[in-house]
Amino acid sequence: MIPSTVIVVGSGLAGLTATIQLLGQRIPVLMLERFSHPGGNSIKASSGINGAPTPFQPIPNSDSVAAFHDDTVTSAGAPLVAASGAEKTRRQNLIETLVGQSSGAISWLADEQGIDLSRVAQLGGHSFARTHRGAGKKPPGYDIVSTLLGRVTGDELFRMETGRRVTKLLREAGGQVSGVEYTYVRDNETVVEKAYGPVVVASGGFAGDARGLLARYRPDLAGIPSTNDHREGTQPLLQEIGAAVVDMEHVQVHPTGFVDSKDPEAAVKILAAEALRGEGGILVRGDGRRFVNELEKRETVTHAMMEQAKEFPTTARQWDVNLVLDEGAAAALQMHLGFYTMKGLIRQTTVGELAEEIPLLHGALREYVDVVSEKTKDPFGRQSCGHWTLTEVLPESRVYVGKVTPVVHFTMGGVVINERSQVLDGQGQPIPGLWAAGEITGGLHGQNRLGGSSLLECVVFGRIAGDEAAAFYQGLDGQCLASS
Ligand code: FAD
Ligand code: SIN
Repeated sequence: MIPSTVIVVGSGLAGLTATIQLLGQRIPVLMLERFSHPGGNSIKASSGINGAPTPFQPIPNSDSVAAFHDDTVTSAGAPLVAASGAEKTRRQNLIETLVGQSSGAISWLADEQGIDLSRVAQLGGHSFARTHRGAGKKPPGYDIVSTLLGRVTGDELFRMETGRRVTKLLREAGGQVSGVEYTYVRDNETVVEKAYGPVVVASGGFAGDARGLLARYRPDLAGIPSTNDHREGTQPLLQEIGAAVVDMEHVQVHPTGFVDSKDPEAAVKILAAEALRGEGGILVRGDGRRFVNELEKRETVTHAMMEQAKEFPTTARQWDVNLVLDEGAAAALQMHLGFYTMKGLIRQTTVGELAEEIPLLHGALREYVDVVSEKTKDPFGRQSCGHWTLTEVLPESRVYVGKVTPVVHFTMGGVVINERSQVLDGQGQPIPGLWAAGEITGGLHGQNRLGGSSLLECVVFGRIAGDEAAAFYQGLDGQCLASS
């Protein structure tokens, strides 16, 4: 007889968070991960996680749950405005849960898991600095995921099976989800197996599914590079057993993926973290002219890049834009800068050296330093200049520059959940025995997710999913769901 367990699909932040909640209540967890290495996209996260208010935010701290709520609602836009009745309430509940539990999520990571989140940046669409990362050498996604992996590994109630691709959810005649079917390769043969138990699905989004779900829902994005490696979306597995999906057409195109001069047409690009702009970086066109408030919402910045910069006549669809930092911004991001310069994606140079290559840069910088020193208002409406310190632009002024282009990054759409992380069917009813958290879910972010709110949703709804699955499992009173 196989011992009863809760099954967690996916080893990213949402899956790990749910697992910690389950193990904390001494409930056995079987984690199934399709790749050979754990961590998903979560391990790549580069700017950090949102929370408000927290003790790490700059003092005096006027940020609040209400301000974070308003920013999230504004960013979510049309799908939230257009929703009515139960659907509107559901979306509002998700947002209220996200922002209301954000401060608790930061303290869970920092105080209970011991993760450094002491640096805080202001990202696009936020009215305060509230995106937290560590001060050390590890990027936030790696730091958070590796710490949580360390927590669960070695627990006798935890088993992770990598190289296992879940292909089906099992639903009993009575409607309850009773387990999953999965495949793996052994001795060059594909093996199909089943595991039994309540299921938490945390298998991420479909921004890497260029030929599958992306082509189906957003064919217009074909050819735009991505920050996501190839990976099929898993929403259809849940739809097969009756789960509803929402907002599948809302796909986030992040403004800044690095164009690597060694492989300029690469379909998968390294992300230029939004924190680079948050800490002071600016965007200029190929000729050097500034054209947008770099801390606008992502959809706005991306739109401006596509409208105002030159599109290259290449196979990959990309636009000619430079990201420029001064020494102050660079100093605030030493770990990031070290990595990007090592990869050859950003170089240190001087304004004088760039004069021929980016002819209008000198003038654009002169205008911008007047904004920083508050001599003039920013014509594009930028309010926060981060750690930019350059106040006099000379030929020898040191700057850091890299080529960037918009990249498919995140999928706002996904399976419908309620604020208890229960997966809902087409009639709005919870499917018993099934929860979902993280990027697999949809509706929370509307048409535009705020930077830093994905890691946050993984923690907030991962914890809820873990607690709900634990209560359900305990309600089963240790009954074994295994079939012989
Ligand atoms: P993931 O972390 O993607 O994990 C899902 C896991 O499920 C994967 O390991 C996958 O292999 C596995 N899986 C998928 N299908 C199956 C299957 N059928 N069977 C078994 N396993 C399966 N967000 C922020 O908030 N802040 C940031 O700074 C930030 N930076 C980012 C930087 C990059 C480069 C990228 C790509 C994204 C970034 N994001 C950031 C977004 C954020 O990282 C992700 O949206 C979030 O981590 C998703 O977490 P998740 O747990 O839902 O999914
Ligand atoms: C980034 O570092 O720009 C990604 C942040 C996010 O997607 O939230």
